[in-house]
Amino acid sequence: MRPTLALYRTFLARYLGPYRWHVLLLALAVLTSTIGAVWGPRILRDFIDGVVAQDSQRILLQAVALYVFVNVVRNLADALMEYLGESVAWAATNRLREDLLQHCIGLDMTFFNRHPPGVMLERIDGDSNQLAHFFSVFGIRLVSASLILLGILGVVAAEDWRVFGGMLCFLALSIWVMLAMRHFGVPYNERLREATAQLFGFVEERLASLEDIKSLGGVPYTISQMLNLIREQISRGQRAFSLGNLMWPLNLAIMGTGTGLLVGGGGWLVLRGEMSIGTVYLLMAYLNLLFWPLENLSHQMEELQKAGGSLVRIQELLDIRSALTDGRLSKAGQTPPRVQFANVSFRYASNEGPVLENVSFDIEPGRTLGILGRTGSGKTTVTRLLNRLYDPDAGTISLNGTDLRSLRLQTLRSLVGVVTQEVQFFRGTLRQNLTMFDPQIPDKRILAAIDRLNLTGWLAGLPAGLETGLSSSSLALSAGEAQRLALVRLFLRGPSIVILDEAAARLDPATELEVESALQELLDGCTGIVIAHRLKSVEKADDILILENGCVCEYGDRLALMADPDSELNELLRLGLE
Ligand SMILES: Nc1ncnc2c1ncn2[C@@H]1O[C@H](COP(=O)(O)OP(=O)(O)O)[C@@H](O)[C@H]1O
Ligand SMILES: [Mg+2]
Repeated sequence: MRPTLALYRTFLARYLGPYRWHVLLLALAVLTSTIGAVWGPRILRDFIDGVVAQDSQRILLQAVALYVFVNVVRNLADALMEYLGESVAWAATNRLREDLLQHCIGLDMTFFNRHPPGVMLERIDGDSNQLAHFFSVFGIRLVSASLILLGILGVVAAEDWRVFGGMLCFLALSIWVMLAMRHFGVPYNERLREATAQLFGFVEERLASLEDIKSLGGVPYTISQMLNLIREQISRGQRAFSLGNLMWPLNLAIMGTGTGLLVGGGGWLVLRGEMSIGTVYLLMAYLNLLFWPLENLSHQMEELQKAGGSLVRIQELLDIRSALTDGRLSKAGQTPPRVQFANVSFRYASNEGPVLENVSFDIEPGRTLGILGRTGSGKTTVTRLLNRLYDPDAGTISLNGTDLRSLRLQTLRSLVGVVTQEVQFFRGTLRQNLTMFDPQIPDKRILAAIDRLNLTGWLAGLPAGLETGLSSSSLALSAGEAQRLALVRLFLRGPSIVILDEAAARLDPATELEVESALQELLDGCTGIVIAHRLKSVEKADDILILENGCVCEYGDRLALMADPDSELNELLRLGLE
């Protein structure tokens, strides 16, 4: 897909629209700066000619004062331009980042399965960054460069048509060289970026497996590999830099030739009395001035191409629609709710085999369903469907008889609390991690929840109590502590459906015993699903569902199943006892 004009326009309107007054001010600053740039040399010309003609001191001083004034104003305008340009660029790209993040978070899990974090980062931050120029400096630089170019040509045309003709030729030559050279460095730069990406990938991979490398004695090999990659990067970098910057000496050569011609031709005209020395100065100053916008224009054209690529990628991302449509209902009826699966079938991707087939069960309000089954039988998938991370391909899942799809996602997710063996903490204080950044929750409630999980002693040992910073490195939590903190979090949220997905699987028996009563308490008054591969963990469940390869193998009241000697549950119990 190529970026269309409409695409540029949409993005500019959406992200620059709110800052239109800033942009207007920016345009004024550019205009002021341009007028200053073109006017300054003219004042000096008058001054030089005035000196030659021996004008009165008053007139000369006036010219000097005017020159200083024009320059001060011009520099102020430049400063304002830089400031506004940067702030508009940041504001606009931050809005874009926000939109992209919001959009991505709203997408269903299939999207995240397909897009690894690195790619997402590149889209959300990398491409937004690329647009920073486009949103502010690009337009401004383009306008100001063009204005200066036109201003100079206008003044020169008014001064002397011969010089005007010469300048046009000079311009045409410069532009031709510029266009011819523009893409010269591009492949070298690409090769350099490739080498850099390889180096980074290598470092990332090795850092992740540092322990293994050390214990297996792979350090010397790793270092030599890395040196090879760095060597390659340096040699490509040198080539990219020297060839990519061929423009510079060429431009200097063109400039030098232009200045020589101007001095020669101008001197000749001065001797013939057809031009003043001041005017020769003016033309030389303009020639210098021309150089800058030309450079800038070519650079901005490159920026525009890159921005176009980013715009297309961003639009493609924004065009991805979530497979989940949000429902409208914000109430799910009585709590705790009744949870029903009716003939639910599901596969993760259309080209993969079914993960759940015709699964049905019905959990009465407040009861707990224990799900048993081998690894890969689809237990976790059941909980993902209940949390509506995916929609089933067939069948319905309902709360109190209401299809999940007609509930608002936010409502549903506030009802469901999940504990797995993976506990995710965020960089922040312990309090923020427990309250999920909700400052409304009072300390009393937090401390009470901590006490229920026997963590009061542990908390007392922390350097700053609830305000202790939590991150993967600063505070190494044991699996048991992490698990119990996850439960504190859930207690504070007070869900009415609780899902424990092998929550205690990583705990040692002593810790498991400690956590167990808390788990039981959490389930009290809630509709629950307890997933375990240890039978002991489902001892207290009211009903039992045994999954096998995504199909219901057995389902019923736990006590009734236990009483039936031929039941699968009893078979499992016997196996477990052996
Ligand atoms: N995100 C996913 N994408 C594709 N397949 C998946 C995904 N998650 C799980 N599966 C597959 O679905 C099946 C059931 O997985 P899961 O519900 O996690 O089983 P369990 O929790 O019983 O171990 C497995 O074959 C697994 O490989
Ligand atoms: Mg699982």
